[in-house]
Amino acid sequence: MSGLVLAVLLNPDRQSDCQHLAERLALPVLSAEQVMADSGFEFFLSYRDGALKLLDRQSLKKGGLQVEIEPRPGEQHSWPAPRKNILAQAIGKKTRTVMDATTGWAQDSLALFRMGYQLRCLERSPVLHALIADGFKRLSEKDWVQRRALEMPELIYGDAITLLGDLPQVDCIYLDPMFPPKRKKSALTKKSMAVLRHILGDDLDRMQLFEAAMSAAGKRVVIKSPDYAEPLAKPDQSFRSKLLRYDVFLR
Ligand SMILES: C[S@@+](CC[C@H](N)C(=O)[O-])C[C@H]1O[C@@H](n2cnc3c(N)ncnc32)[C@H](O)[C@@H]1O
Repeated sequence: MSGLVLAVLLNPDRQSDCQHLAERLALPVLSAEQVMADSGFEFFLSYRDGALKLLDRQSLKKGGLQVEIEPRPGEQHSWPAPRKNILAQAIGKKTRTVMDATTGWAQDSLALFRMGYQLRCLERSPVLHALIADGFKRLSEKDWVQRRALEMPELIYGDAITLLGDLPQVDCIYLDPMFPPKRKKSALTKKSMAVLRHILGDDLDRMQLFEAAMSAAGKRVVIKSPDYAEPLAKPDQSFRSKLLRYDVFLR
């Protein structure tokens, strides 16, 4: 995140949450007036509409990005959702425990959670970690989660390359590192992913991550990648959709 100019935008109704967040992430807290007066800051974290949001200058007044906890279009609302899509096929029929080692906006994690896998989540960006923690808290307060007393995914902060070997073993380690884009700018890229790339850059150490996952996984490693990306090694199986591919490596 080098060179990124990020601050916490003060929400006067959640002053102490803003202060805690700023202390944890070592960021300045700015009022709306200070933000308007100082154009040096590019991104902001703030509490708005009951969620922690990542804002850019265009969304300072309204909107912003948050961990979306509702199912994506085409995904089931029921719990457990059927394990029928290619993500579930890649994760494997016999898999019970999954580690998402690259949680990001947690959309894959949340799909896995809804399909009933026992899930652990790792994230090394402190900003994304804070956004995910907020999303999981909102999820834990949902009626359908409380009624079933579902166990929430465990969220761990840190670099998977160094942590995976020390954590309890899971059946499947799931990786979705940031690959370089095919074109410089693609109209198809969702804003959340474009912002993630802008603030974090590509994950250039994905080979080390793959190697760490291969030594730590109980049964398999799954890597999600864009359709145009070369596999990191020769996979045992691949599952494809229009724009992406899941490569499966058995242990
Ligand atoms: C492309 S995003 C993942 C998107 C995610 N699958 C989703 O559904 O929203 C990649 C994320 O993995 C994280 N990441 C990459 N390498 C990591 C590592 N070695 N340890 C922990 N997190 C990592 C990045 O910080 C980033 O947030």
